[in-house]
Amino acid sequence: MSVVFPAVRQCLRGRGEVQFTVPDPHLGPGLYAGEATPHGRHRPWAVWADLADLLGAHLLTPQPAGPGRVHVTLRAWAPTPDPDAGGYGPDSPWGRVDKLEDPVFLATFVEALRRVDPPPGGRVLALGVNAGRELDALELAFPGRALTVVGVDLNREALAAAQARHPGAQFHALDVGALPPSLGRFDLVLALSLLQSPGVVQDVLLSRLRRNHLTPGGGLILGFPNARYRDGTLSYGARMRNYARPDLSLLAADVTNARRGLQKHGYKVFVTGKYEVLLSAIPASKRTPVDLEL
Ligand SMILES: C[S@@+](CC[C@H](N)C(=O)[O-])C[C@H]1O[C@@H](n2cnc3c(N)ncnc32)[C@H](O)[C@@H]1O
Repeated sequence: MSVVFPAVRQCLRGRGEVQFTVPDPHLGPGLYAGEATPHGRHRPWAVWADLADLLGAHLLTPQPAGPGRVHVTLRAWAPTPDPDAGGYGPDSPWGRVDKLEDPVFLATFVEALRRVDPPPGGRVLALGVNAGRELDALELAFPGRALTVVGVDLNREALAAAQARHPGAQFHALDVGALPPSLGRFDLVLALSLLQSPGVVQDVLLSRLRRNHLTPGGGLILGFPNARYRDGTLSYGARMRNYARPDLSLLAADVTNARRGLQKHGYKVFVTGKYEVLLSAIPASKRTPVDLEL
C-alpha cells in the first residue's frame, strides 16, 4: 500500500482519473489485507473504498481484468460546494440529503431510539429538525406506536417541508437557545447535527434540556457529524475550519463534554456511529434495553 498510495494519488492529481488492476477481492475472504494470493496481494473492497475517500475520489464499478483480477477505477470528486453552503432550505442541496440512506446511521439511530424507548403516547422533541427526514426513523424504530412529535428549527421553509412530510407533528420556528418553558417535557429529545451550529452553546442547551424539557425517565440522542458530503458522497472525518485534512479534535471534545455532563447528572451514556457520532443517554436507574437492532 505504501507504493500504491502515492502512485494512485499522483495519477489522480494529473488526470482526475486512474485505473489499475488488482487481485479480485472477492476471491480472498478470510485473508488479511496484503497477504499473498496466486493473483497478487489480496486487499478487500473496503481498502479501495477508503483509498478513494482519502484521495478525494469516487470508486467506480470494477470491471473484470482476466483470471483472478479486476480493474479498479477512481475518479476525482467534482469540486462542488458543501450542500449546506447555501443554507438549510428544502430547495438547497441540503434538501437532497437523506441520512437514513447511510446504513451505519440508520442502524445506530434506530438502536439509539430503541434504547431511549419513549412510551406509547410519549412526547418527542426534535431540535434543528430541518425538513423532518430524521423523524421517519420513529416509525421504523417503533412501528405503530403513537407519539406526540414537536420539531423546532430556525428555517421556516424547512419547517413547512417537515409539516408536509409529517402532518401529525407540530413544528415551531424557534431558536433552540430560547426554548419557552411552555414547550413542556419530553420522553425523548433529539438534536442531530445541531449542537455545533453557530450560536448554539452546547453546555447551556444541554443543561436547560435536562432541567426544563426532559421527563424523569426521558433520554436524549445527540448527533455530531464526523463526515462531510463531497460530490454527493460521505467523506469520513469531521472538518475543522482552516484545516486541510479532517481533524476530530472538536468532535472528540464536544462528545466528551456532553458525555461527562450527562453522566454527572445521573445518565448512562452510549457513544456509537461512524459518519455521525451518536450519543444516547438514558437515566442511570433505567434498565439498559437489549436486542435493539432494526
Ligand atoms: C446541519 S442541519 C441538521 C438537520 C437535521 N437535524 C439533520 O441531522 O439532518 C442543522 C439544522 O439546525 C438548524 N439550526 C441551526 N441553529 C439553530 C438554532 N439556534 N435554533 C434552531 N435551529 C437551528 C438549521 O436551520 C438546520 O436546519
